[in-house]
Amino acid sequence: MIQSLLFGDSIACSVKPFKTQLLKWIGNKQRFAHEIAAYFPLNLGTYFEPFLGSGAVLGTLAPKRGVGGDGFKPLIEIWDALSRSPGTVKQWYSERYHSFKAGEKIQQFEKVKAAYNAGPNGADLLFLCRSCYGGVVRFRQRDGYCSTPCGIHDPIHPDSFNDRVDQWHRRTSGTEFVHANYDQTMQRAERNDVVYCDPPYTHSQNILYGAQAFSLKRLFNVIAECKSRGVYVALSIDGTKKTGTFLCKLPIPEGLFKREIFVNCGRSMLRRFQMAGESLENEVVHDRLLLTY
Ligand SMILES: C[S@@+](CC[C@H](N)C(=O)[O-])C[C@H]1O[C@@H](n2cnc3c(N)ncnc32)[C@H](O)[C@@H]1O
Repeated sequence: MIQSLLFGDSIACSVKPFKTQLLKWIGNKQRFAHEIAAYFPLNLGTYFEPFLGSGAVLGTLAPKRGVGGDGFKPLIEIWDALSRSPGTVKQWYSERYHSFKAGEKIQQFEKVKAAYNAGPNGADLLFLCRSCYGGVVRFRQRDGYCSTPCGIHDPIHPDSFNDRVDQWHRRTSGTEFVHANYDQTMQRAERNDVVYCDPPYTHSQNILYGAQAFSLKRLFNVIAECKSRGVYVALSIDGTKKTGTFLCKLPIPEGLFKREIFVNCGRSMLRRFQMAGESLENEVVHDRLLLTY
């Protein structure tokens, strides 16, 4: 049975907040990644993040050894370039930024989007995620086509972006990036390693990531396999009221998790985007963290 703990109990690891995002990504955990990482055991072996997205927890933890995986190839191209050639990531951004500033903003944005849609790639995705509307890149479920319009804000200047690249390059220097389905990444974890899962668990997120139907049941099986090998697994689950009821219906195998933590995450980015124009004064939500240990 899951044991509920109030936030603040049994913090294992002290992790400083790191709120500098490299990528803007729907569902990113940047603002409270340090609260999540605080529940990881001390002296962990290798850190695995199989649903990497913008890697908020990875960047905050800055592990000595890590593996970051994601099923979305253009996204992993960005991480791979960051690891092997940070100068290339800077160049990708700076070229697109300068064309954007030199020309008509929307036209230039649409050009990058068209190039991405003609051949999905990391270089264009990087600029789209920094400059699109609401900082939330969306993809059509059917074919992964990007439909997000140009943002109203100015994307950050290359000088400041370059500084972020340097910081993230340092923080992820011990991490290998892989384009892989989560189960392949998790299969590699061994005794005393930590796996942090932040899956696209809700219907709305499936649409936003252009992901295929995601089976939580399958994920629970893979988590159980990890646990039986002595791997520590932490799983984030949306804690909004709506999905709170959803959580009760999840096929969580008996005894799989030992603790459930409510992480304070302020306002949900996804809800804010969907409820544009509405007041969200009472929308303070919690993110749930389930721990196998
Ligand atoms: C909720 S997001 C992760 C957000 C991340 N924690 C952050 O801070 O940005 C989920 C990620 O899982 C990826 N994903 C979806 N299905 C996957 C699968 N079957 N295997 C691996 N990654 C997958 C998506 O591309 C997306 O980047």
